[in-house]
Amino acid sequence: MANVTVIGSQWGDEGKGKIVDWLSSRADVVVRFQGGHNAGHTLVINDKVYKLHLLPSGIVRPGKLSIIGNGVVVDPWALLKEIDDVRAQGVEISPETLKIADNVNLIMPVHSAMDEALEAARGKGQLGTTKRGIGPTYEDKVARRGIRLCDLRDPVLLREKLEKLMVHHNALLKGLGASEICPQEIFDQLMQIADQVLVYADQVWRVLEQARRRGDKILFEGAQGIMLDVDHGTYPFVTSSNIVAAQASTGSGVGPKAIGTVLGITKAYTTRVGTGPFPTEQLNEDGERMGQRGHEFGTTTGRKRRCGWFDATLVRQAVTICGIDGIALTKLDVLDGFDELKICTGYLLDGKKLDYFPAGQNEQARIEPVYMTLPGWNESTRGARSFSDLPPAAVKYVHVIEELIGAPVFLLSTSPERDDTILLKDPFYG
Ligand code: GDP
Ligand code: IMO
Ligand code: MG
Repeated sequence: MANVTVIGSQWGDEGKGKIVDWLSSRADVVVRFQGGHNAGHTLVINDKVYKLHLLPSGIVRPGKLSIIGNGVVVDPWALLKEIDDVRAQGVEISPETLKIADNVNLIMPVHSAMDEALEAARGKGQLGTTKRGIGPTYEDKVARRGIRLCDLRDPVLLREKLEKLMVHHNALLKGLGASEICPQEIFDQLMQIADQVLVYADQVWRVLEQARRRGDKILFEGAQGIMLDVDHGTYPFVTSSNIVAAQASTGSGVGPKAIGTVLGITKAYTTRVGTGPFPTEQLNEDGERMGQRGHEFGTTTGRKRRCGWFDATLVRQAVTICGIDGIALTKLDVLDGFDELKICTGYLLDGKKLDYFPAGQNEQARIEPVYMTLPGWNESTRGARSFSDLPPAAVKYVHVIEELIGAPVFLLSTSPERDDTILLKDPFYG
């Protein structure tokens, strides 16, 4: 029996939250391993809607252990607010059910201020970040001046580290015409909440080792999607972390063999929030229709998501880079009622055919999609709970996708509701 690693195979918002919630009934432990509260994972259970940003999606199921691994960046104020919000929805959260790696890097108020200031300075070249301070925090981590959760236990060291951090950031803020921030102010704010956050701190790598020895099933929950990966995505229009499945290992402190079956969460069409290349984008009625039927508005920022046809070339690349064993195909129901559906099978660059998504920024902006066209269906697939309930044209669409991306469909999702999910192959027994 394998563990399972869930990752987004497009530009995020593929429905990872829904699928992780569904799979978590079979898991004992759910682990976030990268990203931060830039993520927005939606769970719909009966009439209740949960919007999770930092907390693993297993948190809503009693008896499961939720873990935030060292690869995540944690805004402690956002974390405490989210814990309060989710508790107010009736979910129990305690140091027994939530553990945060004590070596995790923290997002400070200066990081969100810097995210804003840097975006403003980019002018027309804005990346469209979530302004949550994600990029500046990862920068500080790699530059070896980050503030970590364990530092909250050591006020003398923390005060020293903040002083050094702010020498760096205040010089930049000043240069960008933004207000400087006093290190003592951040120190005081941190001291007010230190105890509330430290109750969750633990050596997550050991907790996971103990879980493995017990034979627990571990579900690793990725955020964002492969095309936002800092190495493999549409650089520089990406987030600042690695999103690939291998990050589940470095971002939580387990060996690479522990990540188990890799499940790529894949929307039946394509969306993107923020700026950057998107070859199959449909700035027309088709894109509007997908956006309306799929309620494509960002869970974190409320921004309208850009919509377009399914890009099989891009997902095939994700399958290779992440070692995806199978996919969960989501939001098939959104495509009900289209006369025809298009799937991108490759690109043209200056008249030459490409069967891969190129790395160059200008090439990515210039490539033109090559499409195949398939018939649509008029029947409703919304809420279908058996593959045999799907109209033949929908079945064909699913099989064509499997063939083009080189990976089978393990799960199929037909509405936001937890139970409107068709299991074709159990990834835990993958
Ligand atoms: P995530 O970031 O990958 O977890 O995805 P989001 O939660 O940001 O966005 C996915 C949206 O689609 C959410 O509003 C989900 O409730 C919704 N959703 C998930 N699966 C399906 C599905 O199969 N059909 C429909 N119509 N909506 C879905
Ligand atoms: P989930 O987990 C979609 C995008 C932002 C922006 C870029 C960089 O819900 O799928 P950042 O704030 O990370 O520096 O912004 O990444 N982005 C997402 N897009 N879903 C997400 O998460 C995202 N997290 C970041 O819109 O284009
Ligand atoms: Mg989302």
